[in-house]
Amino acid sequence: MEIVILPSADVVGKVGADIFERTVRENAHPVLGLATGSSPLPVYTELIRRHREEGLSFAAAEAFCLDEYIGLPVGHPESYHQFIRRVFTSHLDIADTAVHSPDGAADDIPAAGRAYDESIKAAGGVDLQILGIGTNGHLAFNEPGSSLASRTRIVTLTEQTRSDNARFFDSIDDVPRYALTQGLGTVMEARHLLIVATGAGKAAAVAAAAEGPVTASCPGSIAQMHPHVTLLVDEDAAADL
Ligand code: GLP
Repeated sequence: MEIVILPSADVVGKVGADIFERTVRENAHPVLGLATGSSPLPVYTELIRRHREEGLSFAAAEAFCLDEYIGLPVGHPESYHQFIRRVFTSHLDIADTAVHSPDGAADDIPAAGRAYDESIKAAGGVDLQILGIGTNGHLAFNEPGSSLASRTRIVTLTEQTRSDNARFFDSIDDVPRYALTQGLGTVMEARHLLIVATGAGKAAAVAAAAEGPVTASCPGSIAQMHPHVTLLVDEDAAADL
């Protein structure tokens, strides 16, 4: 794992955008794995700037989101399908139909999970997967205890995650209890993992993921088993390394 400690979230955004830009330029059909949450926002903001000001094109790209809430009405502003469009992809030249999310509104959720894994494979697999990390060490919505070999499936969100994400909703009661998430086994098939974390609240999770034992108690620690991981952290998130 390559660990890069940077002075601020802005610089994390710029270095992360460099890695995305290289992937986009070097692949005829770049397959990008996208994450929601606040951590990737500086990277997305910088990529939007490069698209607008420097002509960086995503027209040949396809994108797969990590996860989706279950139980939100289609079109809900906090669904990850809507979120990723609002903060990132609608500002680029990527085709809307090339931006995929797990179908959290499907009648048959297990089948939707299997279909999602198949669609990633059919696209050739993910070239670059950006990931945030939860304060409890979760990756995507793989909470502590998730099988390290898990595939895209329904999961129950912990109270910690629901309270962390309550800031996006009117109240914690509105935060869904379930999600459809890529599994850790699915995430690990991406060819390059780019993990971004900023702020003191992530210091313990970052240290456990990067330097602790590889254990389902800290899903982020599975990244230690991946051959190509870049971890970008600001100084606050690096405090316990
Ligand atoms: C969310 C998402 C994750 C994200 C994490 C951290 O619940 N499902 O993909 O990485 O929690 O979020 P944030 O970056 O806002 O701290």
